[in-house]
Amino acid sequence: MSETTEQSEPQADVNPYQGFKFLRDHAPVTQLEADGPWQVARHADVHAILRDHETYSSEVSIRPPEERGAPSMLFSDPPVHHRLRRLVSVAFKPSQIAKQEQQIRQRCGDLLDAMPKDTELDLVQALAAPLPVMVIAEMLGVEDGDMATFKAWSDEIFSNIGEILFGTPSPESERAAEEMNAYFLQRINDIRRAPKDHLLGQLVETETEDGKLDDEELLSFCRLLLIAGNETTTGLITASARIFHEEPQTLGQLKEQPELAGSFVEEALRFYSPFSATVRRTSKDVEIAGQRIGAGELVVPLIASANRDERVFEAADTFRIDRNPNQHLGLGFGIHVCLGAHLARLEGKIVVEQMAQRYNSVSLANPQTATVGDLGGPKVLPIIVA
Ligand code: HEM
Repeated sequence: MSETTEQSEPQADVNPYQGFKFLRDHAPVTQLEADGPWQVARHADVHAILRDHETYSSEVSIRPPEERGAPSMLFSDPPVHHRLRRLVSVAFKPSQIAKQEQQIRQRCGDLLDAMPKDTELDLVQALAAPLPVMVIAEMLGVEDGDMATFKAWSDEIFSNIGEILFGTPSPESERAAEEMNAYFLQRINDIRRAPKDHLLGQLVETETEDGKLDDEELLSFCRLLLIAGNETTTGLITASARIFHEEPQTLGQLKEQPELAGSFVEEALRFYSPFSATVRRTSKDVEIAGQRIGAGELVVPLIASANRDERVFEAADTFRIDRNPNQHLGLGFGIHVCLGAHLARLEGKIVVEQMAQRYNSVSLANPQTATVGDLGGPKVLPIIVA
């Protein structure tokens, strides 16, 4: 994007980070079009929005309540949000997630074993998409034979998320959601007859002073995991490969010091944030960086831009494998901070550790056309591993 074009939006092109820098420096709060959402580019402002759930509501849908189905925690405010989050959070504690580690290592190893060396392959197809789907499928008790169908539902629902919230969902995504609901309803009924130990089994059983989750809430949570946990983790894996290409020394550093994998993942979440932006609705008149915004307007905190803000991060456009402190907002902040954060970190860590153990180089086949910065990341990423 040209730096002389005032107030133009960052292009969703090969690299949006120049555009984000322009916004931070010259137009930290901009409206994309008349009556459109306000995008917010600086770390301090994005942080303040995520922290203040009273002023910045997550109930953003414009669909009438009767069409929305059971509320999802991501798009609800307290007290509904607290009730839903309390009911499911026990299953996402580090001790619960640690139980999945062996299985994730095994799955990741199998997928890497199947990746040929010295020839071009699509990393999204080979590893970055299937691994997170397998992990979530496992948590929900989806059997291996149903995995392909589950992935197809997930893709259909995710590709239509904007329409689901703000407009009319496509017939394909409605159909995918209906089929998936029917599938999980059957599973939930099976679990009620014969309890299971996986996440869905625990959720069916969990009871707190808030009561139990009903069928609609359980189905809504299954959908939420697909939306929130799949493409984002895919994006973290493709971001890591891009970093191996751009900063080849990091592979060697990880080989020698595998304990750097954790801080590599934190820095990857900052540097190429897979959850690049979120959305809120103002509950009252506000002022952000001098810009007045009325009640009831949509605000889009640009997480990917906040994470490159040179006001907070020294050498913000440099990838530092051991950056510390690293106050990135890649997993959100406040009451909606990523519920799957431990899992996302664990998956990311296992992937980068195993890639560093196996390969001396990971290169992008077409670096000039590979996109960054879209929600989730690129849909295809041709790479060559050696
Ligand atoms: C690298 C991967 C991931 C990234 C970058 C990511 C990022 C985020 C972010 C930024 C939010 C807050 C959104 C907001 O405030 O509007 C969020 C929320 C959430 N994430 Fe993740 N996420 C990842 C992986 C996962 C995984 C693996 C799961 C579950 C299996 C998950 C489940 C959730 C849920 C349920 C929420 C909603 C929490 C709430 O509303 O209280 N995420 N995530």
